[in-house]
Parts: sequence; C-alpha cells; structure tokens
Amino acid sequence: MREDFLWGSATASYQCEGAWNEDDKVESMWDRYLHDNHLENGDVASDHYHRYREDIKMMAEGKQNAYRFSLSWPRIIKDKEGTVNEKGIAFYRELIRTCLDHKIAPFVTLYHWDLPQYLEEEGGWLNVETCYAYERYAKVCFEAFGDLVDHWVTFNEPKWFTASGYLIGNYPPGHQNVQEFITAAYHVMYASALGVRAFRASGRKGTIGIVHSFGPVNGVDDSLKTRIAMRYADNYANNWVLDTAATGEIPFDLLCVLSQKYDLSFIREDQLETIRENTVDFLGLNYYSHTLVKPYTEGETSFVVNNTGKGGSNSLIIKGWFEQIFDNPDAIYTEWGTQIYPQGLYKGLKEVYEKYHLPVYITENGIGVREDVSAEKVEDDYRISFMNDHLNAIMNAMDEGVDVRGYFAWSTFDLYSWKNGVEKRYGLVAVDFDDDLKRKPKKSYDWYRDVIDSKGEKIRRKKWDL
Ligand code: BG6
Repeated sequence: MREDFLWGSATASYQCEGAWNEDDKVESMWDRYLHDNHLENGDVASDHYHRYREDIKMMAEGKQNAYRFSLSWPRIIKDKEGTVNEKGIAFYRELIRTCLDHKIAPFVTLYHWDLPQYLEEEGGWLNVETCYAYERYAKVCFEAFGDLVDHWVTFNEPKWFTASGYLIGNYPPGHQNVQEFITAAYHVMYASALGVRAFRASGRKGTIGIVHSFGPVNGVDDSLKTRIAMRYADNYANNWVLDTAATGEIPFDLLCVLSQKYDLSFIREDQLETIRENTVDFLGLNYYSHTLVKPYTEGETSFVVNNTGKGGSNSLIIKGWFEQIFDNPDAIYTEWGTQIYPQGLYKGLKEVYEKYHLPVYITENGIGVREDVSAEKVEDDYRISFMNDHLNAIMNAMDEGVDVRGYFAWSTFDLYSWKNGVEKRYGLVAVDFDDDLKRKPKKSYDWYRDVIDSKGEKIRRKKWDL
C-alpha cells in the first residue's frame, strides 16, 4: 500500500447533518419532497451539524486519515441571486479545520443531491440555468475552502440521482420521463465540466474528480446478443458518466440511438467544447454491486426499486436494450436486494483503469442492514466480511497495476438512507436514534482501525480466477 493511501469513510450533508432550517439554511428539494409526502426525513438525521467534533474525533481514534463529506448548497447559497450565507461558510470552515487538526484529509463533494428548492422551482436540472448557478456556487466554495482542501468532487453519482429523479421517479422531483432524464443527465455532466473549469481558473492547489455509482457490467454468457445487451447496459449504467467526465466525449453510439427517438437539440456545440476541455483528474467509484444483464426478451421499459428491505426484489427492463438480473439463485443478496459480489469490483477496476488510465478512489463501499443498536457493541461480523472481501478485491486489482489511491467506507456512522429511512444502517459507528443519538463504535470500526494500522496487511487475501 502506498504511504499516502487514504483510509477513510464517507457521509453526505442531507443524510447526516440535520439542522435542516438552522443558521439561515434554506430548503432543499429533499426537504420539500419528504415533508410534502409525509415521509421519514433528514430533519435531525444523525445531528452531525452539532456533533461533528465528536464524530471526527472518533474517526481519528479509528486511525482514519480522510473524511469524504458533502457541502450543502442550500446551507451556503440562500437564493437565486447567489447571496452567500456566511454562517454556512463558517460551519464548513470549522468542520474542515477540525479534520485538519486531527490529520484527516477533507475529501469534499460539492453536490450530493440536496439541490436548493428555489432552483427546483425554476426547473431544477431540466433548466440549463441550474448549471450556471452550480458554477457560481462552486466558485464560492473554491474561494471559501480552497486553502484547506486538496480533494474536490463535482458531483456524487450523476446517474443515480438523475435516473431516480426523472426516470424511475422514486427520488425528487419524482418524474418518469425519458426525455427529462436525458436532459437532466446532460445538464449535470455539463455543470460538472463547468465546475472543473472554475476549479482550474481558481488557481487552487489539489485535484478535482467526479464520483460515480459504479455498476460494472457482466453478462449471462458470451453470445453476440448478450454482448450487445451489455453495451446498452454499460452506456446506461456507466459510460455516459465516466466517458464524459474522463475523456470529454459522450458515448457516440448512445447519442445515435437516443437521437432516433428523443430531442437532443438542447445540446449546444459550445457546451460540448466545454465538456471536452474540462476533464477530471481522478475517478471516484462508489461500489455496492455489479450489473448482471441478459438480452431483452419482452415487456415495456420498467423499474422496480426495493426501498423497504422487506422482501420484494428489484427489477429493471429497458425495452429493446437489456434486462438486469436481480434473482440469481447462486448469489447472496441483502434484505434490500443488493447482490454481494466483490469480484465485480476487482474486474470493474481493471476495466476502468485500462479504459481511462486515471487515478481511482473507492469513494463508497458498504452494506446496509437492520441492526439492534441497543447493545453496548454491535457485533457486525457480516460488515467485516463484506469490507474484507471488497478491500481484497481492490488489493488484487492494485497488484495488477490499477492506481487506487484511497478507500472510503460508507458510512462513517449510521445516517438517513434515501427513502429507506434510518433503519437501513451502514455505519461503522452506531447511532441510537431512540436514545439521544448516542454514538457507539461497532465491531467493524475496531476491525477497520486495525486494518488501517496494519496498512492493509490484516486483510484476508484470496485470488479469483474470473
Ligand atoms: C450511494 C449514495 O448511492 O449509495 C449514498 O451516494 C447512499 O448517498 C448509498 O446512501 C447507499 O444507498 P441507500 O439507498 O441504501 O442509502
């Protein structure tokens, strides 16, 4: 392991901060959506806003040397006119300083889904003006925190939040419209390039990347039909984010196919030029599972997402393109229907590195389960085994030359999981939501500390012949 390898864990503003309307923070689209629909929300969440010092100290005691978190745009910019909330700036400067005091590198994401509601009301990511508002917000952040931060991320998971918000409809704004999905997806990638450009123009030190919900594609067999389905699936799940951010080119075969049915006239040549000229320095990959596909057989395009964790599988069919398999009898799934498949990370990392030759960080990896946190110690051996096997996958890929520079467990402590509530727990540290939000390190926290201490030597290694 390199000496400067980042061993950390991750959170996101809406999922952990709480304090949803304190210190002049304005409403985000998630505040509005969850309040209006009377759903479990992040009003209090893990109360990180008030307890970040305790949380960061705990990370340091766990030997972690990096913290990936996101800035809340509605905490920093109060209105359409771009008025800066100095209290928001002060909060994050203090949080970042606390990291640095503990020798923890801040790994800062500009956007982890909490769009200010005042922008959503103007059309959100369907409106190109949101891209320019994002650019102005990014400039404020580089100016306010650039002296303290070396690692920046433009967006967390463009694919996940645009597909969920505009195609599947289970995230705000809750639409199901392919044309909107394409428009929003493109605008986010354009905004990301504007963010990269603003970073370079700021003259700040450090590097900037993008974080992707990485679902490397595998097929059921090697037939031509399956390989075509795999290409469709890869374009849908990965390439439009990774190719665009890393090479500056939107996959051309994807544009050709989309142009037959949808209106792409909103794409402007000068925007494509900006995308081409402002590629990222690194790729952040969030890995939870792979994408196992078979050729399309029949039925309309449809998506089913298990947000309850109470049985009921996920399903995904894109008419004419591919079907995703979620019920492989040989595989192991979580209660939420996520397949546990560390081999996918090993193979996917090699593919990504071969394709883009960029440094990679694993910016999220973890397992969401129900847990009884009333005991003094949560004995989460399943999480230890999950993390061990995924770290093993990363180390195997590194042995073969892949340039992985860091690993972030999701999540630093228990927090609010989008639409699944706080009972889908990912944390290394338990948060007792019924007892004053008390923090208690789980067994996995201790294990991870020892792994870090051993520089990875403590990982039980095995090789796969894939
Ligand atoms: C990633 C997100 O998609 O996965 C996180 O970046 C999210 O914000 C994590 O919480 C786990 O997903 P979920 O839906 O189980 O919370």
